[in-house]
Amino acid sequence: MTKFSALAQKYGTPLYVYNFDTITQKFSALKEVFKARKSLICFAVKANSNLSVLHHMAHLGAGCDCVSIGEVKRALFAGIPKYKIIFSGVGKRDDEIEEALRNDILMLNLESEEEMKRVEIIAEKLGVVARISIRVNPNIDPKTHPYISTGLHENKFGVDIESAKRMYIHAKNSLSLDPVGIHFHIGSQITEVNPFKEAAEVLANLLRNLKALKIDIKFFDVGGGIGIQYKEEETIALYEYAQSIFSALGGLDVTLVCEPGRYLVGDCGYFLTKVLYEKHNGFKRFVIVDGAMNDLIRPSLYQAYHAIEAEGKEGAEKSVCDVVGPVCESGDFFAKNIELPALEHDDLLVVKSAGAYGFTMSSNYNTRSRVAEVALQNGEDRLIRRRETFEDVIALEKACL
Ligand code: LLP
Repeated sequence: MTKFSALAQKYGTPLYVYNFDTITQKFSALKEVFKARKSLICFAVKANSNLSVLHHMAHLGAGCDCVSIGEVKRALFAGIPKYKIIFSGVGKRDDEIEEALRNDILMLNLESEEEMKRVEIIAEKLGVVARISIRVNPNIDPKTHPYISTGLHENKFGVDIESAKRMYIHAKNSLSLDPVGIHFHIGSQITEVNPFKEAAEVLANLLRNLKALKIDIKFFDVGGGIGIQYKEEETIALYEYAQSIFSALGGLDVTLVCEPGRYLVGDCGYFLTKVLYEKHNGFKRFVIVDGAMNDLIRPSLYQAYHAIEAEGKEGAEKSVCDVVGPVCESGDFFAKNIELPALEHDDLLVVKSAGAYGFTMSSNYNTRSRVAEVALQNGEDRLIRRRETFEDVIALEKACL
């Protein structure tokens, strides 16, 4: 029996499995290419927010990039030190700002002048000085899927260079704000170094202008976005990535911050799903599995490709099929027109590179329970989130029966 078949038998399917040793390797490789400078790797919690994953990140020395107070609280709960936590996002509520300031996290990453004013008022009310960073939109095309491209003026994120300058000058003169960082994040699943290089150059120039105004920025945050190999895409050489940022920074004395999500956890994850039925309708072959779009929505939402392998069928003859789930939508598929061997009830499929934006984007659509998550580390497996029961799913509703 293969390792995945044993896990499917032990924990049931559908199931997410994460290899923590892969996360360690990825983290170490990134830390290594940054070693010529002070650096802080803040894991983007949205990619995979399981507490055990975050605890593992804390153990590695990572910080966290969060986009809601819920994520900030998760990071703190999992043992990430408060001085390594960044709070980003275009729409922070007053209560979220207040709680983040009370928790004294490293910095709030601001995305508009209006937001800065709210943070200033709230910091003043609390009698604290808010450490802030500003997300600058460098208007650079990251050449990725439009839904995950964020660094163009047509996107809602960040502020343009001129607004950023005004904001830094305002913050410097404010008694309640301390401008400590500068930030960009141009998109996700980026497979070329050039967009990063260009963005870093634009922001480093802004930093030099700010220095001339006696505004001394300590953290240079290059966001996330490093792509992984889902199919045959060539990915970024990490060394080249780091060097291009270093060369943009020239002699500037700043701590480099990076916010990878997918890079750290994408490859470590596998989604295990069992075959329910094969169905042939005269035109097409469908493999119907027990997992669905509510468990892993990336193929439906972004037409994303995830490699799928049938366990224990090596060498068997293959034919073209669609792999689909039980949800009542034509968009409920994991793959279209891929080649798989003939399959029977209970055969196991492994959907690869599913560690990022898999479980975190899952839902209870069709009153399907969210699946279990398992960690693999040093050859051992352990449950890190149990499968939801029907009672879990309805627990918060009030029935007028
Ligand atoms: N920092 C900020 C401010 C972000 O908005 C993001 C992702 C990251 C870091 C991490 O980006 P990464 O290193 O993972 O590329 N659900 C989509 C991806 C959305 C990414 C949103 N922002 C997907 O499944 O492809």
